[in-house]
Amino acid sequence: MERFYIETWGCQMNELDSQRMAGQLMQQGLVPTRELQQADLILLNSCSVREKAAQKSYSRLGEYRLLKRQRANLRIGFCGCVAQQEGEEALRRNPDIDFVVGTGRVGEIDSVLRRSRRGERVLAVGFPEERPYDFEAISRDSAHKGMVTIIEGCNKRCTFCVVPNTRGPERCRPMAQIMSEIEHLVEYGFLEVELLGQTVNHWCEPPPPLGSGQDLDFADLLNAAAVVPGVKRLRFVTSYPRDFTDAMIAAVARHDNISPYLHLPVQSGSNRVLRRMGRGYTVEDYRRLVGRLRAAREGLALSTDLIVGFPGETDEDFQATLDLVEEVRFASVFAFKYSPRPNTAAIRLPIADEVPREVADERLQRVFAAQSVIQRELNEELVGRQFDLLVTGWSRRPGHRSGRTDCHRIVHFPVCDEPVRAGTLIRIRTLEAYDHSLLGEMVPGRC
Ligand code: SAH
Ligand code: F3S
Repeated sequence: MERFYIETWGCQMNELDSQRMAGQLMQQGLVPTRELQQADLILLNSCSVREKAAQKSYSRLGEYRLLKRQRANLRIGFCGCVAQQEGEEALRRNPDIDFVVGTGRVGEIDSVLRRSRRGERVLAVGFPEERPYDFEAISRDSAHKGMVTIIEGCNKRCTFCVVPNTRGPERCRPMAQIMSEIEHLVEYGFLEVELLGQTVNHWCEPPPPLGSGQDLDFADLLNAAAVVPGVKRLRFVTSYPRDFTDAMIAAVARHDNISPYLHLPVQSGSNRVLRRMGRGYTVEDYRRLVGRLRAAREGLALSTDLIVGFPGETDEDFQATLDLVEEVRFASVFAFKYSPRPNTAAIRLPIADEVPREVADERLQRVFAAQSVIQRELNEELVGRQFDLLVTGWSRRPGHRSGRTDCHRIVHFPVCDEPVRAGTLIRIRTLEAYDHSLLGEMVPGRC
């Protein structure tokens, strides 16, 4: 029996790509293992969004090489964003890599492996027009949510971002295919469906022969997906602020099963920085959008991404970011220190604009400090209320399980005699708030 081991770094797209590759391998009779030592095939699904993540994949490759010294027939496949970016160079520099599979070639892992078995060192990168996508062959290893890619790649050119290079140009999947996949996920037993895309709300129906060519946008897709029987919770990441239309806001307001939680990356609270980032909106635009969304849907929670220390960011620019954080009161904030990435426009900005590392570190800590106070306060407002909780699995707290409210808060609760399976909905009452989660009890709180 041949065993495979997949290590995944990075975002949900990479997670789903790993599930796709696992599914294809299992169809070929390979079996998954969680023990690296037992694997005959190792796939490293790499992330390149920040330098640290990219470096991590090289150090992991180094460790895999040692394993190969012990077991000559071990096969190593380098996949994901770094693999796409490096291409042939990766094969040339690392003689122990047997094949390279970029993000646009995930659907071909079976044929790549066949060629590799014949002794070829295979290079599969780039973004061909024809991309096999067999959603029935995905090994869905999440207990509680089914992910559906609706749009791949990105056509924006945010000056800091490597994603358009590593994930290629924007390609939308046709509505009919997306709807079939959602129905398939509901049949499989998922109550939550998560639509994925780098700019998920930029989806539109592709022209023939791939799609119907009908004039459909993300609002139409939301309206159709939300009424699929059995979809109890519908979520989508990542929305691009500028692409949010009134019709999309209306869809979020109309369907209760669309999570009242949106991830809306702002990146900076300073117009000067936003312009240099090439984001195409102003802080005022962003504020207006937040206001319209909150007016449309009561209790809407928002999260965001922020970059601190972008070249040229002054103390005033940073203060504007902090002010925005204080003003919007996000339910969570993912803040990062700017990391220069190859072949992006920002690395050509003048050296003199570089923000010293200590300054960027300090700014990052200030964002975290401000946000944790806000988060705790927001969580405290939720104490004593009841929620439907989608059980996600065991909690890190001994004897507790955890789950997500529809506004995406994590709630831990003690297990009791009643069996609570991951992926099911239970009713919960919240008792206590922390910075990143809440403690609750099942209703009617017998345990
Ligand atoms: N498509 C998403 C973002 C993809 S990358 C969007 O529209 O925002 C995920 C997050 O990583 C980004 O939102 C950004 O905050 C962060 N990021 C991307 N490139 C980065 C870089 N060079 N340095 C630091 N953070 C970065
Ligand atoms: Fe990156 Fe901007 Fe696209 S952050 S993924 S280039 S929207």
